Amino acid sequence: MVDINWDELGFDFIPTDKMFISKADASGNYDEGKVVPFGNIELSPAACVLNYGQGVFEGMKAQRTKDGKIVLFRPLENGKRMKESAERLAIPPYDPEKFVEAVKATVLANKDYIPPYKKGSLYIRPILFGSGAILGVAPSPEYTFIVFVVPVGPYYKEGFNPIKLEIIKNYHRAAPKGTGAAKAIGNYAGSLVPGKLTKSKGFAQEVYLDAKNEKYIEEVGTANFFCVVDGVLLTPRLTGSILPGITRKSVIQLAKDKLGMTVEEKDIPYEETFKSSEAFCTGTAAVITPIGSITFEEKEYIFNDFKVGPVTQKLYDLLVGIQRMEIDDSYNWVEVVK
Ligand code: PLP
Ligand code: COI
Repeated sequence: MVDINWDELGFDFIPTDKMFISKADASGNYDEGKVVPFGNIELSPAACVLNYGQGVFEGMKAQRTKDGKIVLFRPLENGKRMKESAERLAIPPYDPEKFVEAVKATVLANKDYIPPYKKGSLYIRPILFGSGAILGVAPSPEYTFIVFVVPVGPYYKEGFNPIKLEIIKNYHRAAPKGTGAAKAIGNYAGSLVPGKLTKSKGFAQEVYLDAKNEKYIEEVGTANFFCVVDGVLLTPRLTGSILPGITRKSVIQLAKDKLGMTVEEKDIPYEETFKSSEAFCTGTAAVITPIGSITFEEKEYIFNDFKVGPVTQKLYDLLVGIQRMEIDDSYNWVEVVK
């Protein structure tokens, strides 16, 4: 067995045993791929990904149910999103169905690293990038698809407790017609400075406004944004510069179907969020994380006395219940890995 203290897992890199790797030529003829020992890879200093950032990734989780099954949540959705992200960056897409097979093979090859029930998850990180050498700015002559995994606990140190966020005005995450809707590696490089500044002031993460009007909420550093105003669940509409989260999509459906709520996907002026009765953010890593307050220009707006709100709690229980196969999954969102 592996030597890991499951009670102390955070969101940190830990090497595991195996990874999946497949390579393609410029036209995207991916080889069959195989599970190999986890380890470093060799790249030319002229690799397109190193020079021009031609790379995309995904994030998903495998976890154990109470009776020990290994489950994935909507893996084909991640495969489809990786295809869309790849197409935006001129990367020949990896077939979404094969993506799911590769993910399952990698999870099974690292079974011992899946935390026990309720102790965390096995975070799955598929990456796809231009690995060929090139000098002029053009698509890579070769591509590499890798899936590796890392056991993780909560993404925010607060766990399922309200976090403090700050709306920032000096930086944007993405621009109209840019790469914001793709899970492009460069989007995250650009968020490092604003993320660091915000965290140095004691906030968990930054909230971005739209780049055109500097008025509407886009998303949180690594999660989508939701708030409840006058009993309606609001979330920014997908404008093309927001990442279309799979958790976001699932939460919208659960709120409508199971809580009978009105959900509006719309442009949300930042001032409107100050009136929220509760707010939360969603993501694979973040799951559903309650937002206790939002600070804008030094003024803090507190939601629900900094306590987890009733809608947030119900949606969390529903989502996590389905993910752990403890609530009837009428949507067939959960896949058992065998
Ligand atoms: N927005 C950003 C910028 C993200 O990095 C993520 C995480 O993947 C999300 C939103 C949430 O997406 P998902 O729910 O598919 O994990
Ligand atoms: C995820 O939620 O999977 C993310 O990608 C967020 C972050 C760790 C990049």
